[in-house]
Amino acid sequence: MTAYFDYASTSYRKPRCVYKAIKSYKKYGVNIGRGSNKYSSKCTEIIEETRQMLKSLVKADDNYQTVFQPSATYALNLLIKGLDYTKIHNVYISKYEHNSVVRPLFNMQKKHNFDIVYIEDYEEQFKHKIPDVVIISHLTNTFGIIQDFENIFKAAKKYKAITILDMAQSFGLIETNIVSGKVDAAVFAGHKTLYGFSGIGGIILNNSLKLNETIHGGTGIKSADIEMPNERPIRFEAGTQNILGIFSLYYSCKYLLKLGFRKINEIETKNFNKLKTILKRYSCLEVIDPQVPCSTIVACRIKNYNPENFADFFSKHGVALRTGLQCSPNAHKCFGTFPSGTLRFSVGLFIKNREFKTLERTLKKLHNKLNKK
Ligand SMILES: Cc1ncc(COP(=O)(O)O)c(C=O)c1O
Repeated sequence: MTAYFDYASTSYRKPRCVYKAIKSYKKYGVNIGRGSNKYSSKCTEIIEETRQMLKSLVKADDNYQTVFQPSATYALNLLIKGLDYTKIHNVYISKYEHNSVVRPLFNMQKKHNFDIVYIEDYEEQFKHKIPDVVIISHLTNTFGIIQDFENIFKAAKKYKAITILDMAQSFGLIETNIVSGKVDAAVFAGHKTLYGFSGIGGIILNNSLKLNETIHGGTGIKSADIEMPNERPIRFEAGTQNILGIFSLYYSCKYLLKLGFRKINEIETKNFNKLKTILKRYSCLEVIDPQVPCSTIVACRIKNYNPENFADFFSKHGVALRTGLQCSPNAHKCFGTFPSGTLRFSVGLFIKNREFKTLERTLKKLHNKLNKK
């Protein structure tokens, strides 16, 4: 790929140290909690350190544990399907949620009697319809909006609501304190802003949040018991875990913690501003500006054209981006870009100058092509 502008899908370019995970896997990639040999001990040590580093990235204290899942989607499914709905009447979500929140929630609504409410004027809404659960994506995957979850969660906690923050697009990117932010569960995707491999995600979960397991199976402990053990995180981690994926997070978390949020923010802001400046130079593109704090993602339209028609054009010129609805149709309804969607460009830490140059050359060609028509 000549110019990669699809970090919101996955961080294709990663810190070089992350690939050390493969070497470690070759050496220590045995199962955890299933044996007592020295490789198993080392493997367990790496995994436990990774759990701690993930907690450090969101400043979680001893009241939280890291639960590994195969992806952010699985993590959100566990949270949404594992709740006890006997006392849940109102679930609030933002208007920008990803289908990995919307679909499991609507699926659960078919089985349980609760309302799904879109957050608008939340303080007023909460007074009339008490929140039991609030789910918000920290950084929206369509328009890069940084959502003000802290104030919403603070207001929701007055009603003892369960608060879930989808950090698939922000974990390791935006400095966050989930304790002061009153977050009960923060979801991460290993392969995006955490720069790990795909196939690993999870939750930083508050111990006080009551949650049922959704997958049953072997845990390596209490095997004689027909029920899943109560111990966390193992209760939610039945079966063999993605050890290679966790090893990749071991190296990427080390890298991110060493780099620090100030530097991460500096690089991301520089790349984001550069991307916006380039895209705004071309009159054939309508850059959608949500007029609120944003990061990493810039969405555009091409007047009178369906964005999907340009996917091949960009691909032919070596530019990776994402077209369409990006699994979040509701967000597009808010910005008038439903149903055709947008051209979504997104940056990460590892964009090179030559990639911006390739993008500029491609946009010039697009401009000329459209002007000829
Ligand atoms: C905001 C948000 N939440 C959840 C997900 C799901 O992540 P995954 O596909 O890694 O399960 C995504 C993926 O793009 C996302 O952008």
